[in-house]
Amino acid sequence: MNAVPELLLDGVSKTFAGPTGGVEALRDISFSARRGELISILGPSGCGKTTILRMIAGLEQPTAGTIAIRGQPINTARTLSREGAPSFAVVFQEPRLLPWFNIEENVALPLRLKGADAATRRARAHELLVLVGLSGFERARPDQLSGGMKQRAAIARALILEPKLLLLDEPFGALDAMTRDQMNLELQRIRQTISSTVLLITHSLNEAVFLGDRVLAMSPRPGRIAASYDVPFPQPRDLDLQSTPEFQDLVKELRRLMTGWHT
Ligand SMILES: Nc1ncnc2c1ncn2[C@@H]1O[C@H](COP(=O)(O)OP(=O)(O)OP(=O)(O)O)[C@@H](O)[C@H]1O
Ligand SMILES: [Mg+2]
Repeated sequence: MNAVPELLLDGVSKTFAGPTGGVEALRDISFSARRGELISILGPSGCGKTTILRMIAGLEQPTAGTIAIRGQPINTARTLSREGAPSFAVVFQEPRLLPWFNIEENVALPLRLKGADAATRRARAHELLVLVGLSGFERARPDQLSGGMKQRAAIARALILEPKLLLLDEPFGALDAMTRDQMNLELQRIRQTISSTVLLITHSLNEAVFLGDRVLAMSPRPGRIAASYDVPFPQPRDLDLQSTPEFQDLVKELRRLMTGWHT
């Protein structure tokens, strides 16, 4: 067993400077993720979920505490590791594809920025498009794809450099319920073929439990980790799991915790 966790947050706090004093966004966040683990993060709007991802991605500095990926503090972990795998990739709520590129070019963009040749880019993009169920759409433009297809393309792009950490900020929030179920199954299937550790921010209690190995529930601002649940259901899971009493009990418990903030 490797004692160094894939991702470690230790006593991380964040206060934003503001015109009328500081805004305390996060207070004393500590958790770690094992390699390949999927951690769901639930919490009320404004509790600092996106800020956690932005700090892991090095886009914001913590006010206190440390963040490390495989034991390396983030600033240095951002550079390529020895195997050439980047530390992380981020998928946002909206797909952020470049409209003037076709799907293959969008997915291959990170490889292009690394200077990979055209043949390598094409071959690798094809592999990823197969993985996310988009083979045949290489030449399509983003505006010719549905919302779910665009989001799958964004996930393919995030995976193309085989990141250690996949940071997903409400990636399926804009999708209808059925497409969302399909995307949940898709993400689960992809996880069986990649070794990335995943942080999934979601507002859906069902999604958090269905996909998570663990669920972290955050309090309102200043965000703290109010509870951590190990999700006991073996992977891979199918959608019928959501109708079982065990699944619904866990969702209910989380709902009680989350609605408790408003009373
Ligand atoms: N750059 C910034 N400058 C000042 N305050 C900020 C900045 N970014 C975030 N905040 C504040 O920090 C708090 C947390 O914001 P954050 O976006 O992380 O919340 P969130 O949990 O992702 O919310 P949501 O669920 O609505 O996306 C909010 O009060 C927000 O106003
Ligand atoms: Mg957010």
